[in-house]
Amino acid sequence: MGDPPCWLHLFDDFDMTTSLAPDLASFFTTHDARIHEELFDFLRIPSVSARSEHRADMTRAAEWLAGSMRAAGLTAEILPTGGHPVVLGEWRKAGPQAKTVLVYGHYDVQPAEPLELWDSPPFEPTMRDGRIVARGAVDDKGQLFLHVKAIEAHLAARGTLPVNIIVLAEGEEEVGSDNLAAFITRMKDRLACDYIVISDSAMFAPGIPSILSSLRGIAYFEINVQGPAGDLHSGSYGGAVVNPAMALCRILATMHDADGRVAIPGFYDAVREWEPAAREALRALPFDEEQLRRDVGAPALGGEAGRTVLERLWARPTCEVNGLLSGYTGEGSKTVLPAKAMAKVSCRLVPDQDPAEIERLMAAHVARVAPKGVTVSVTQLHGGRPWRAELHGPLFDAARRALAKAFGREPVITGEGGSIPVVGDLDRVLGAPILLLGFGLPGENAHAPNEWMSDENFVKGMHAIAALWEELGAA
Ligand code: BES
Ligand code: ZN
Repeated sequence: MGDPPCWLHLFDDFDMTTSLAPDLASFFTTHDARIHEELFDFLRIPSVSARSEHRADMTRAAEWLAGSMRAAGLTAEILPTGGHPVVLGEWRKAGPQAKTVLVYGHYDVQPAEPLELWDSPPFEPTMRDGRIVARGAVDDKGQLFLHVKAIEAHLAARGTLPVNIIVLAEGEEEVGSDNLAAFITRMKDRLACDYIVISDSAMFAPGIPSILSSLRGIAYFEINVQGPAGDLHSGSYGGAVVNPAMALCRILATMHDADGRVAIPGFYDAVREWEPAAREALRALPFDEEQLRRDVGAPALGGEAGRTVLERLWARPTCEVNGLLSGYTGEGSKTVLPAKAMAKVSCRLVPDQDPAEIERLMAAHVARVAPKGVTVSVTQLHGGRPWRAELHGPLFDAARRALAKAFGREPVITGEGGSIPVVGDLDRVLGAPILLLGFGLPGENAHAPNEWMSDENFVKGMHAIAALWEELGAA
């Protein structure tokens, strides 16, 4: 990539001549092969949190990670939750005067299916064209692991760290982090910290380090429609018995208006527009909507009228069908009136929408529009709050300098359409400023076949985080 456009330079008080301290840089060079071998070992463990058949792999991944933290010089414990365990790593020898940083990440991954679309097996990591390819490479094992290695670099090169560090690694992020809020609340005193740092997101573009300013929240539902007691002959009964599949489609069709806005009454009541300066910054980012259309291979893009694509993705809430199930979908035809239909529906939320309130609105709306002749239920599967960052203060300044040292240019500020459910809880319970520094890239296939992480970003990510500890120690 050539020089980025000048209006991508947000800050004018920047010294771009500094780089990572030589002793830390040389640790990463000397140990490059070993670090990659270890990462590949981590990626080989199929820690799929959604599937009960991977329960033993989840334990194995937690133990592997605890071992890796101990080898880096942290103490590590595997702590039970109501679901998959938390791995808690700690190094607290910087003393009471030094700042304490909490790093959050997740060691669980999404299911790898459909397996036939992978060019190499998902749990046999390989390096292809500068990309680390494996399920979990970028989301989030690679990004969690680079934090462990940044800690190791300091302890190996200097025998000490300028900050106290807590690493909180969970195994349920990809299934909604249901048990983590209770864990954090229970462990509030032990997790007390000055700053929180998370790498579980992406940079705006290759070579352009990014600080994330927002995450959407989520409210995830299952809608079940029950008609007759069992499947019926569609000729003998069709026309006289209400069809649950049609009933479900009619319900789903009421969820948007013709302008692409969510039509659930009250849905937008709590939505706070981004401040004019933030909207301005968002509109200034060089984003090619047509390129996105080509990348995803869709005939056209859609969404809320009067909004740019980045606004639709980062600043506006949505309601999406994630899955549909009903009737006969096998080969050929079968004349059947199905007894039931099911949809998985999720809403992405923006500040100040509250997942519990959205559940109430969704349930009331579905009950109101449900056709007669079927029974409809709405169950919330999980929820997470939206979040927006404070883009000033010592943590933010340290991050700008650390990213500049590692990437040779200042960061841009981005938003994100995805969710990290625990961020809202960390904010609420621990009350420390949160920094989201992601090292993924657009198109890295998170949650999809052929997930990858740029090896350059993995290495520069380690540099940036090692530099961040230095900056925070000096702050
Ligand atoms: N790492 C992602 C969050 C994310 C997605 C950050 C895209 C940046 C870009 C995270 O692991 C994730 O996928 N979260 C889920 C949460 C859900 C299961 C509650 C998501 O957003 O779907
Ligand atoms: Zn993730």
